[in-house]
Amino acid sequence: KRQVIFDCDPGHDDAIALLLALSNENLDVKLITTSAGNQTQEKVLLNTKKLLSFIGVIDIEVARGAEKPLIRELIIADNIHGETGLDGSDLGTPLFEESKRSALEAMRELLSVTEDKLTIIATGPLTNIAILLLAYPELKEKIDCISLMGGAALGGNWTPAAEFNIYVDPEAANIVFESGVPIIMSGLDVTTQARLYKEDIERIRNIGNKTSNIIAPLLDFFSENSPPYYMSKDGYFKGAHMHDPCAVAYLIDPTIFNGITCNVSVETSGKLTTGTTVVDVNQRTGKVKNTEVLFEIDRERFVNMLVSAIGYYK
Ligand code: BDR
Ligand code: CA
Repeated sequence: KRQVIFDCDPGHDDAIALLLALSNENLDVKLITTSAGNQTQEKVLLNTKKLLSFIGVIDIEVARGAEKPLIRELIIADNIHGETGLDGSDLGTPLFEESKRSALEAMRELLSVTEDKLTIIATGPLTNIAILLLAYPELKEKIDCISLMGGAALGGNWTPAAEFNIYVDPEAANIVFESGVPIIMSGLDVTTQARLYKEDIERIRNIGNKTSNIIAPLLDFFSENSPPYYMSKDGYFKGAHMHDPCAVAYLIDPTIFNGITCNVSVETSGKLTTGTTVVDVNQRTGKVKNTEVLFEIDRERFVNMLVSAIGYYK
């Protein structure tokens, strides 16, 4: 069983990613840390506690992460995720308190005592992970890999060139990509193929359990608020892209993805390109191949995976 630290900023697609991870028998989520991104730290932390309480998971440590990026001011995506960061459904009130330890301390202690290596899933800006790697570099060897949602080889969703998670804290992303820890990157190239059509959302609604009753309206909200995204031969798609669940789905079943291993570097000071992941698909640099970059997903199998994950809950 893979032991996991899950760093996230819920966020609609983060919420689905959490549900996917927590329902899978091969993933053992030991710790959840929250990353300021889609909304403020306060709000994403509250959303995490509400979501876990709603599904009856109240025994996993949830630890508060950094309030803002390493050196920049926080940018939030309230245009997409709403005022609460998880608009569209009422998840009720949290039934437990967050940890007394900070995300940094909780991650440090867990990594220090673990005998097997741990896997990090990161679905928000990479601030917390960068702080961990900077503060305790000796713990890198305890991390098996980091499966993250962020970046793109082609085109951005926040600026023409940059994806949101990397754009919010490019310095942090740079530290993570340069760290030497193996990275699996679910960037926009693949996550925009992981889209849910109206009929997929209906399939989820029709599961008819308590969880699908709150997830379907969240997906409706997310679909309506997501901007259209260019999909090459498929034209523009406006709807629900399941960005963050890709980072989890890869760990559950890598055979539904295709990708290549190459160097990825992060632009931190571009005139037009700050926050861009420079993906060396053509091996131009000779730099170390630090990342497995995912480019394709079997959408049908992915959707089936999500539907059975939501069916797992009450
Ligand atoms: C990423 O940005 C956030 O809005 C989503 O939760 C996802 O992690 C997509 O660019
Ligand atoms: Ca996210």
